[in-house]
Amino acid sequence: MQTVIITLFPDYFRGPFDCGPTRVARTDGQLDLSFVNPRDFTQDVHRTVDDYPFGGGAGMVLKPEPLAAAIESVRRPESMVVLLSPQGDRFCQPMAEEFSRTDHLVLICGRYKGVDERVRMTVDREVSVGDYVLAGGEAAAVVIVEAVARLMPGAVGHEESVATDSFSIGILDAPYYTRPREFRGREVPEVLVSGDHASVGRWRREQALKTTAQRRPELLRSEVLTESEREFLCRELEKEIING
Ligand code: ADE
Repeated sequence: MQTVIITLFPDYFRGPFDCGPTRVARTDGQLDLSFVNPRDFTQDVHRTVDDYPFGGGAGMVLKPEPLAAAIESVRRPESMVVLLSPQGDRFCQPMAEEFSRTDHLVLICGRYKGVDERVRMTVDREVSVGDYVLAGGEAAAVVIVEAVARLMPGAVGHEESVATDSFSIGILDAPYYTRPREFRGREVPEVLVSGDHASVGRWRREQALKTTAQRRPELLRSEVLTESEREFLCRELEKEIING
């Protein structure tokens, strides 16, 4: 997969893409990352990329000409062109999976107040990484590239681990324990050392459902529960109401 990041600050990306799954995906040749700077597409001596908003108001807007030229320099018929902005659709695991299936991903990092509307209209998607305002889209691009890169075969040590991550199956993940069996007076749940894989699987699913019900109940709406899982959650809810 080729990913092009359109950014005024290519230096921002020194580091985050040289570690972990992103580095593995890059060295394996599965992820080809490159950067394009709209400043290289300016025509004036000052290399101006922003301007005041028509109608007034605080903050600057990215000028359309250099940004449009930067996009056009890399856009292909098969490209998925994504503008990163707080106004976008919320980034989520299904979106990471969708992006991982594209051959050519173009991520545009906004800055200042945003990009000129006439450029915004030309993108395929507008994506936000959360309901907060970053200084620009660069940190959002890191989030997206990392979420996409770790889905590439071999980027994460154990592929099964990716398949059971939080959100991959629509709900949060179960808690995990490693050695020692007792740590500061707290024991590892007995079922995890029982060697009974079916019971471990059932316990993990129940714990995942319980955590999801407590922290992100809205995720359970599209989850298909068995009768015994429904009963388990009702019992857990009852306990919580009684114990506060
Ligand atoms: N740029 C500024 N804030 C952002 C956000 N929350 N998501 C994506 N891009 C942004």
